[in-house]
Amino acid sequence: MNVMSKPVILTGIRANNDLTIGNYFGAILPIIDMAKTRSDEYQVNLFIPDLHSFTTPIDHSLLYDQILHNARLFVAAGLPLDNPDIYLYRQSYISAHSELTWILDCFTGFGEMSRMTQFKDKSQNVYDSLGAQDFELPDDVNDVKQKKVNQTVSMGLFNYPVLMAADILLYEAQYIPVGEDQTQHLEFARDISERFNNKLGDTFNVPESVAVQHKFFGKDQGLRIKDLIDPTKKMSKSDDSGRGVIFLGDQPSAAAKKVIGATTDDLASVHFDPQNQPGISNLLQILSLLQGRTLEEVSAEFEGQSSYGDFKAVVAAEVEKFLTDFQQKLSTVDDNAVIAKLEQSEHDLIPVANATLLRAQQAVGLRQKV
Ligand code: TYM
Repeated sequence: MNVMSKPVILTGIRANNDLTIGNYFGAILPIIDMAKTRSDEYQVNLFIPDLHSFTTPIDHSLLYDQILHNARLFVAAGLPLDNPDIYLYRQSYISAHSELTWILDCFTGFGEMSRMTQFKDKSQNVYDSLGAQDFELPDDVNDVKQKKVNQTVSMGLFNYPVLMAADILLYEAQYIPVGEDQTQHLEFARDISERFNNKLGDTFNVPESVAVQHKFFGKDQGLRIKDLIDPTKKMSKSDDSGRGVIFLGDQPSAAAKKVIGATTDDLASVHFDPQNQPGISNLLQILSLLQGRTLEEVSAEFEGQSSYGDFKAVVAAEVEKFLTDFQQKLSTVDDNAVIAKLEQSEHDLIPVANATLLRAQQAVGLRQKV
C-alpha cells in the first residue's frame, strides 16, 4: 500500500438521516464509478463527515447507527472493500480534521461565512420553524423566545464550510464529486488554501477549479435533483415531511407512489425546461440517471407526450425497480467487513492527515520548521 502516491478523489456524505436518490446520484455514484473503474490511477477517499451530521438539530440516539448505515449504503452502491487504494473512514476518528478546522477558522472571514447560501437557507429554516423572522440579538436579555432562536442556529452550521475545507485539504484532494448545492463550499476550499499559501508559504494543495472538476466527472454542471412536491427546491434528506423525497430506504412501492403524486404543470407536453416545467424536467433527469442514459436521449423519447400519467408511470416503475435491487444488495452487506475496512482506513490515514496538519502548524508558528 502506498498512501497518497496518486491524485486523490474525495467526497463525504453526512449521516443526519437516511440518504436520498439526490445523495446517491449527486455524490455516491460518481465516486463509486471512479473507485470501480479508475482506482489504478486515482486514490479514492469516501468518508462519513460524522461531525457535520449535527450542524442542524438531529436525534442523537440514532446517530451512531446511522453512521454505520451510511457505510453499508456505500457498499451496497458498489464500493469495493478489498481494494487498498480505496479508503472508507469516519471524520471524527481522525482528529486532525477538527484541529485543522480551528487553524483555518482564524483565516476565515465572518462576513465570508455569513454569505454562504446554505448557511442562509438552513438558518432561515430554523428561524421559520421557531416562528421567528430572523437572527436578532435580544435587547431584553430575558426575551426567552429570541434567546432560543439565537441559540438554535449553531456555530457548527456557520462553520460547516471550514470543516469541509479541512476534510479536503488534509488529503490533498484534487477532485471532489458533490451536488450543485456544495459548489460554493468547494470554491471556499480553494480560496482558503490559496490565501493561506500566499500568506504563510506553500502548505496546501489547491483543489481543481469547479469547472475542471465538472469536466473530469463528465458533466457541464453540478447535479441538483429537486423535491417531487416542490420542484423549485432541492430534494433534501433533512426535509421534515419527506413527501417529495425518495429515500434509499423507502418501500419501493411507496416511493413509486411519491413519483405518481409529483407536482407537474398544466402544459400537457413533456419537455425538458427546468424554468417553466420544473417538475417534468426533474422527472426526466431522474429517469435518465436511473436508466444510465443521457438527458438528451430520454427527453427525445418522451418529447411532446401529452399524458403525464403515462410518463410518470414509467419513472415510477424505474424508481421501484432501482430501490428493490438496491435494498436487496444492502441486505447482503457484511457488517464485519465494513467495520474492518473503516478501522483499517482510519489507521492508514491518521499519519497522512497528521502530516498535513503539521505543515499547517509549522506555517502558523505552532511547531518548529525543520
Ligand atoms: P450532504 O450529506 O448534505 O450531501 C451529500 C452529497 O449529496 C449531494 N446532494 C445532492 N446532489 C444532487 N441533488 C440533490 N438533491 C442532492 N442533495 C444532496 C450534496 O451536494 C453532497 O455532495 N457538505 C457535504 C458533506 C461534506 C463533504 C466534505 C463533501 C463534508 N465534508 C468534503 C465533500 C468533501 C454535504 O453536503 O453533505
